[in-house]
Amino acid sequence: MSEHFVCKTNAIECGSVAPFALEDANELPVNIAVIHTDADQWFAVIDRCSHGRFKLSEGEVDGDCIECTRHGSAFDLHTGEPLNPPASSPIQTFPVRVDGDSVYVTLASN
Ligand code: FES
Repeated sequence: MSEHFVCKTNAIECGSVAPFALEDANELPVNIAVIHTDADQWFAVIDRCSHGRFKLSEGEVDGDCIECTRHGSAFDLHTGEPLNPPASSPIQTFPVRVDGDSVYVTLASN
């Protein structure tokens, strides 16, 4: 388990998502999508749809969900569970901590 600084809070507007490239404890690359919702909540998920190779950082944030714009599956940002087909598998989610104006993500699987 390792916590990483990813950005300042003003780097991602409410209702938006941005990609970040981190390294895990084994120095392997982990591409994540960090989401700042309209309700001022923060989430982080793996930056890859479970249905295909599409980046979720290119998706649409809708409330507490992110929608993959390739085929339209949406994922619950709390659980990673898909809410509609064609995706049938969850995406990995990561804990996010906001400390002042800094956003941190912990690379631990759920
Ligand atoms: S690649 Fe995301 S729904 Fe198909």
